[in-house]
Amino acid sequence: MAVDEGSVVRGGRLYDNWSIESKNRPPNGPHPAFKVKGSAVSAADSWRCSTCHGWDYKGNLGHVGIRNRQGSDPAAIVAVLKNDSHRYGGLMSEANLLDLANFVSHGQVDTQKLIEAERRAKANVSSYEQFYGTICAACHGSDGSRLRDVAPIGDAARQRPHEVLHNLINGHSGDVMPPLSALGGDFAARMLAYVQTLPSRSMAVSITHGARMYDNWQVETGGRPQSLPHPAYPPTAYFANDAAMTWRCKECHGWDYAGKQGQYATGHHATGIKGIRDMAGADPARIVAILRDGTHRFDAVLKSRDLLDLANFVSSGQIDMNAVIDSKNGRARGDAKRAGAHYRTICATCHGADGQRIITAPPLGRVARTNPWESLHKIANGHPNENMPALRNLDQQLLVDILSHLQALPETR
Ligand code: HEC
Ligand code: HEC
Ligand code: HEC
Ligand code: HEC
Repeated sequence: MAVDEGSVVRGGRLYDNWSIESKNRPPNGPHPAFKVKGSAVSAADSWRCSTCHGWDYKGNLGHVGIRNRQGSDPAAIVAVLKNDSHRYGGLMSEANLLDLANFVSHGQVDTQKLIEAERRAKANVSSYEQFYGTICAACHGSDGSRLRDVAPIGDAARQRPHEVLHNLINGHSGDVMPPLSALGGDFAARMLAYVQTLPSRSMAVSITHGARMYDNWQVETGGRPQSLPHPAYPPTAYFANDAAMTWRCKECHGWDYAGKQGQYATGHHATGIKGIRDMAGADPARIVAILRDGTHRFDAVLKSRDLLDLANFVSSGQIDMNAVIDSKNGRARGDAKRAGAHYRTICATCHGADGQRIITAPPLGRVARTNPWESLHKIANGHPNENMPALRNLDQQLLVDILSHLQALPETR
């Protein structure tokens, strides 16, 4: 009987993540056959075929592979999926189980061999630019970083080549990314090699975007402002009735990043919440976990890329405000004159020589005196969802000098 190619690649996407692809929930607890106790794999992920059988189909985390079942009778494979070590019988339809069996029987490629052959061939992969540009770029952008849900695909292809090859051949669970299986494993392997040449996300871009989200992620991401207050915002604090305000990181952790340990221990913006200073230098993955935790719940409103950008900001983007701004009088420890030319060129184009041209903003002279911490944060990182340049990568003393210059501008219109 002829093989149904559509069923095979569908099975490949179920193999990746059947729950997402088939829109059926996995059971609550971990898969009973999952061998690694206390591992980082979540209960839901322990039900994915790929978790136990691997992206090269040779077995993962001590579980057996499925390579021996290539060419087996699909009905016999369906029986395996219903057996006591699997228990998928009641979890998805017969049609889904048959797709999975067709994948196991007809869809496996030798990922190792394909990737090795491609590496040995060392052919000029740039010729695949034409295929990438026409088949993939509409969704992924010409540099592979357009989708905010996923890491730049160049990074994914370098870090997880077997998984990406599986996705290229079969598509991605739960969406319409086109499977390349009909064009052959070699074609997919060459495409993988081309994608491996696409750039990483620049750390500076990630940090400044994270910093603008710290300021106001609702504006920066173009999302809708929240209508219910953040659950961790103290109900008795000043902005409790301004829901959108309570969701801003800066509102709970301060413009000086020091929370109750800094300038925000008193006044309207006081919340009594700890700052984020202790997390400077921390592993971004740990910070992402904090942003997903029950206190924060940001995974419900932000894409994973945005969470990582926030974490990169917290880990690598904080300015030590007390070192550059006198905490007693708010004076910047800079030289206003040294930054005159910079202000009149880089800033005045938009803000005017007196800092008052943008009428939606208060005069910059006033902002910089009443809130030098916010001003410096913006000089370094820009303003949410505006084209104001971020100067973070210039010499930090120059940014402080610019802040001093702002503090010397008129405070009233
Ligand atoms: C929690 C780990 C785990 C998950 C998840 C899992 N399996 Fe298995 N699988 C096993 C174990 C253990 C065996 C060996 C025992 C057996 O054959 O029942 C096995 C065996 C198999 C075999 C037979 C291999 C052989 O050489 O006979 C196939 C085919 C298979 N699994 C397919 C799948 C598919 C498809 C999925 C996803 C729907 C899946 N498995 C999910 C653990 C897992
Ligand atoms: C119709 C839109 C679309 C097209 C066309 C498309 N993709 Fe995708 N791709 C997606 C989506 C959506 C995801 C998954 C995002 C998610 O996980 O939510 C994805 C995921 C990926 C991933 C996985 C990233 C990861 O972190 O695991 C890679 C690699 C990838 N695509 C490469 C390609 C390549 C190469 C092409 C061209 C052959 C292509 N895609 C064509 C939409 C598309
Ligand atoms: C409504 C208030 C609130 C908002 C908004 C908020 N947080 Fe928090 N955050 C908290 C609380 C409460 C803690 C726990 C503090 C403690 O352990 O005492 C915390 C802890 C943290 C920590 C760990 C600090 C440490 O040293 O343990 C980090 C990092 C952090 N938040 C980052 C962020 C980022 C980034 C955002 C914006 C995306 C954000 N938070 C938004 C309330 C908030
Ligand atoms: C391309 C135009 C542009 C340039 C160039 C620019 N900005 Fe801005 N800036 C903006 C916009 C737009 C805003 C948001 C105004 C608002 O709040 O409506 C802003 C906001 C600010 C704020 C916050 C004001 C507030 O509302 O609290 C400060 C401080 C600031 N800019 C300083 C600077 C400095 C210093 C420079 C030069 C290093 C600069 N900007 C360059 C467009 C620009």
